[in-house]
Amino acid sequence: MSESLILPQTTDRKELYESLLPQIKSLVEGEKNFIANVSNITAALKETFGFLWIGFYFTDTADELVLGPFQGPIACTRIRKGKGVCGTSWLKKQTIIVPDVEEFPGHIACSSLSRSEIVIPLIDAEGNVSGVLDIDSANLHEFSEIDAHYLEQIALIIREIQGE
Ligand code: SME
Repeated sequence: MSESLILPQTTDRKELYESLLPQIKSLVEGEKNFIANVSNITAALKETFGFLWIGFYFTDTADELVLGPFQGPIACTRIRKGKGVCGTSWLKKQTIIVPDVEEFPGHIACSSLSRSEIVIPLIDAEGNVSGVLDIDSANLHEFSEIDAHYLEQIALIIREIQGE
């Protein structure tokens, strides 16, 4: 695809995701390199929604995630399994929506500006978590089931390209 994103003139989140998803699919179709693809996915999400922080953590050892490509302020480089929102999403193999980070016990504050968060586990073809997609917002209550639904679709695209 061309190297610019088409952004519809709307603030409706569902419409924005509906426009973004096919663009992400064609973006990754043309490139085999995994890091290049996940890097562009963070940029596409940042351009579309402008969230505070969008990025990946990947499993590095049996009990630790390491920072991957991201957009936003510098972040913690390592998160242990079961710790914070990311480590909990890994442990539970579940998407976690945190409407108010101060209400999540053990939340890891990489940026004091972060007020709400969503984390989606990346589950590989064998059913193992290979990483997480983490998005932070400067607003409380930023994320809903709509975000969870579409971001899980992005996690499925990542599963497809991971095996290549
Ligand atoms: N808040 C996350 C840590 C990663 S940063 O938000 C980029 C957590 O609690 O796992």
